[in-house]
Amino acid sequence: MSKPSDSKNDAPPEADTLAFFQDLEPPANDFLQDALSGLSAAPKTMSPKYFYDQKGSQLFDAICDTQEYYVTRTEIDLLQNLIPILNKLAGPGADIVEYGSGASVKVRTLLEGLDNVSSYLAIDISRAHLINACRVLADDYPEIAIGAICADFTAPITLPAISREKGRVVGFLPGSTIGNFAPKDAKEFLARASKMLGEGGALLMGVDLKKDPDILNAAYNDAQGVTAAFNLNLLTRMRGELGAKLNQDNFRHRAFYNGEQGRIEMHLESKTEQTVQLDGKEFSFSAGETIHTENSYKYGLEEFAALAESAGFRAKHAWTDPKGLFSLHWLEVHTQ
Ligand SMILES: C[S@@+](CC[C@H](N)C(=O)[O-])C[C@H]1O[C@@H](n2cnc3c(N)ncnc32)[C@H](O)[C@@H]1O
Repeated sequence: MSKPSDSKNDAPPEADTLAFFQDLEPPANDFLQDALSGLSAAPKTMSPKYFYDQKGSQLFDAICDTQEYYVTRTEIDLLQNLIPILNKLAGPGADIVEYGSGASVKVRTLLEGLDNVSSYLAIDISRAHLINACRVLADDYPEIAIGAICADFTAPITLPAISREKGRVVGFLPGSTIGNFAPKDAKEFLARASKMLGEGGALLMGVDLKKDPDILNAAYNDAQGVTAAFNLNLLTRMRGELGAKLNQDNFRHRAFYNGEQGRIEMHLESKTEQTVQLDGKEFSFSAGETIHTENSYKYGLEEFAALAESAGFRAKHAWTDPKGLFSLHWLEVHTQ
């Protein structure tokens, strides 16, 4: 990990309108090493963080617009309805830090609805998408210091001081990104976030709820095939960036709710017996064998609050939409 800095020295020209930019993009070799160990594992697996190159991020944005994917519109409605309460909780001059910021769409509700937000720091692994999103925000909100860190948020990150005032540090983790972690890894992530946000800090999180499996299965199997394209983009990346020899048409998208584990699972399923070559090694697939590419854990309200409390937060408030599809949690860093 490169040394944290408060300067913009790391900034490529396209990021020079930002108040801060730090480049901690993981080295390309990490992708190769993780792909080699993931394909060697039984069952075969890959981290969902590898979905997100520029194309993958664009496909995720397109998923958010599908009819079946209730998450984005439900969460935005909830945020808009809760703004008066969130404003009281955050207080004036907040410094907002978003983990896995993507297109930074949802945060606009906070930037516009909270009093005098001082700064917004976006953290994401998808470098070009991150820079583009933050440049647009910097144009749209010139009174707010907009910064970005390209990094893997599972590694320790030191917060830069980019704010202009001394408001509350408010972490933001929408989109149910926390669901991509197994519960024990989610606890570790939250424990690290509580240290990063520090005394007085708070974390606003969007968490997907357990519900009718038909709704969940439809959300991850949209009729237009956008989620399938998003999943299959991982193979495109392996071919393009790692030189993997594979036939993408020999794989299909599979997603289903695993009720026992309380999670959606996404897989790339081999349609046939085949061999994939990567870095001079061969990986054989039987027909029907899969690469497990993502989990999305679903929680009950109390179940998630207990997880957050076990990681060093006080679970202060939780809200759901009227249909009980999605939840927002307000957590505060607990100091002894
Ligand atoms: C499910 S999307 C959510 C995007 C956006 N926050 C939203 O709510 O619509 C997850 C986001 O986290 C980013 N991401 C995934 N794994 C990451 C990692 N390990 N480190 C940093 N960013 C990551 C992805 O690039 C993507 O933008």
